Amino acid sequence: MTHASSGRMAGRVCVVTGAARGIGLAIATRCAAEGGRVACVDLSARRLKPAVAAIVGSGAEARGYAVDVGRRSDVQGLFERIESDFGAPVAVLVNNAVWARFQPLAEIDEETVDKMFAVGLEALIWTTQAAAPQMRRGGGGAIVNLCSTSALQAMPNSITYAALKAGVLGLTRAAAIELSPDRIRVNAIVPGMIGTPASIGMFDDATIVARRSRMPLGRFGEPEEIAAVAVFLANDESSYVQGAALVADGGWTVAAI
Ligand SMILES: NC(=O)c1ccc[n+]([C@@H]2O[C@H](COP(=O)([O-])OP(=O)(O)OC[C@H]3O[C@@H](n4cnc5c(N)ncnc54)[C@H](O)[C@@H]3O)[C@@H](O)[C@H]2O)c1
Repeated sequence: MTHASSGRMAGRVCVVTGAARGIGLAIATRCAAEGGRVACVDLSARRLKPAVAAIVGSGAEARGYAVDVGRRSDVQGLFERIESDFGAPVAVLVNNAVWARFQPLAEIDEETVDKMFAVGLEALIWTTQAAAPQMRRGGGGAIVNLCSTSALQAMPNSITYAALKAGVLGLTRAAAIELSPDRIRVNAIVPGMIGTPASIGMFDDATIVARRSRMPLGRFGEPEEIAAVAVFLANDESSYVQGAALVADGGWTVAAI
């Protein structure tokens, strides 16, 4: 069965970065299930292949692009290729890719900072720059940027990550203002702890139990719960939401204890 003619993303060309696993894969899968035509972008060609095959196997349209989103010249070429492959301009962009290391201040090194900022922040400038003209030609569009509660609330060993995710918030707001005349909406999702291999692997069992016990909803979020927020921000149901940061953290940041 094909979903392209119905669903909340019907027929729209959706680009999802970091789509080979975790939250990005859940977003790409959900966009496809809602009728989106999905361009899955990831650095890892090895992980991208089964991810795209699974989406295509569900009867949806998806293509994989093994590209480093931190490189401006590669990103420009990527968006030209996507428009040509799908025969339509990009309508939705989800900036989800991340490369993160958590280091105490004394151990932070230049190479790690450069790479984290290239993938997690600079890439958003390049993808937005490449996508906006296509969205403009298509009559509008939606950009969804993955932020983190680390931008709002301090965690140990997270100086670089907190700085780049705070940057994502600033970029989202500034891009929303600049792109409003083109009917392009730009919003951020602020997830709390989501159960992906990357996040669970960061903590020992005792820390996971302690964290979970302090969460108002008593559990980590699922990637699919973030994908649901992404689809809301990416389709016309959220047509008056612009420059917003939607927190999806099970109540973590509002809890007093
Ligand atoms: N998992 C969480 O608990 C959590 C919490 C808050 C925010 N987030 C944010 O959600 C997003 C996804 O998180 P995740 O846990 O699914 O991450 P993840 O590490 O599981 O997946 C990230 C993906 O990005 C890809 N990637 C890395 N460098 C790339 C590059 N240069 N070019 C293209 N792709 C590249 C990786 O190959 C990987 O497939 C991130 O922006 C993250 O900061 C996650």
